[in-house]
Amino acid sequence: MKYPVLIASLFLTTTVVSIPVVFSDDERREYRQRSVGVAAVNLPLYKEECGSCHMAYHPGLLPERSWQKIMAGLESHFGDNAELDSNSTKIITDFLKKYSADKSSYRRSTKIMRSLVKNDSPIRISETPYIKHEHDEIPDKMIKRNQEVKSLANCNACHTTAEKGIYDEDNVKIPGYGKWDD
Ligand code: HEC
Ligand code: HEC
Repeated sequence: MKYPVLIASLFLTTTVVSIPVVFSDDERREYRQRSVGVAAVNLPLYKEECGSCHMAYHPGLLPERSWQKIMAGLESHFGDNAELDSNSTKIITDFLKKYSADKSSYRRSTKIMRSLVKNDSPIRISETPYIKHEHDEIPDKMIKRNQEVKSLANCNACHTTAEKGIYDEDNVKIPGYGKWDD
């Protein structure tokens, strides 16, 4: 047996034998969510108030300071008036703060956080350096000039699992173009 093969097989045998851990379906699902997603938390009030014009973005997609800025400026929200009564504003703000990216250990949240310059508080997920970078090879004709997408903010137009907080290449289907192949 050649040396590298011997070493490789020894390595495989020892790892297989020494880690006889069995994961339940729930643990496997949670592990996957942590590695390719953000926490899939939600709140009926949030879905109702913040999920009618676009998907209800998961709190783990922006830091607390960004959510605070967004919630403080709802009367002029990207050209729309999305103002809420003070009670709903408080409940939603508390929810967003509690699960924001800076408090999360899910992989996509930590990547978004690490990409931000200190104290930067973007009000767009689509303009955080990490999210911008992940999409910089997608041509305009598939986003802006694509009538079924129009904007990178429209995560769920392409990410079929966006509502579950899962963002991986396997579950991308760009309307009119299909699976992404890079
Ligand atoms: C009346 C419609 C409307 C409502 C209600 C609304 N939004 Fe928006 N929101 C918009 C529009 C329009 C945009 C810009 C979308 C685009 O550029 O494609 C936007 C963009 C956003 C973005 C940035 C998306 C990105 O990454 O570029 C966030 C975050 C956001 N909204 C959060 C919220 C929250 C939180 C609420 C609830 C308090 C809310 N929105 C309610 C219309 C709305
Ligand atoms: C036009 C369709 C489209 C839209 C809209 C879109 N994405 Fe993506 N996204 C993709 C494609 C395609 C890739 C893979 C890009 C590559 O590998 O070059 C990707 C990759 C990603 C990745 C990295 C996945 C990995 O496996 O490394 C994340 C995270 C992500 N998108 C999040 C988002 C979020 C959050 C939004 C909304 C703010 C969004 N995307 C909007 C198409 C889209």
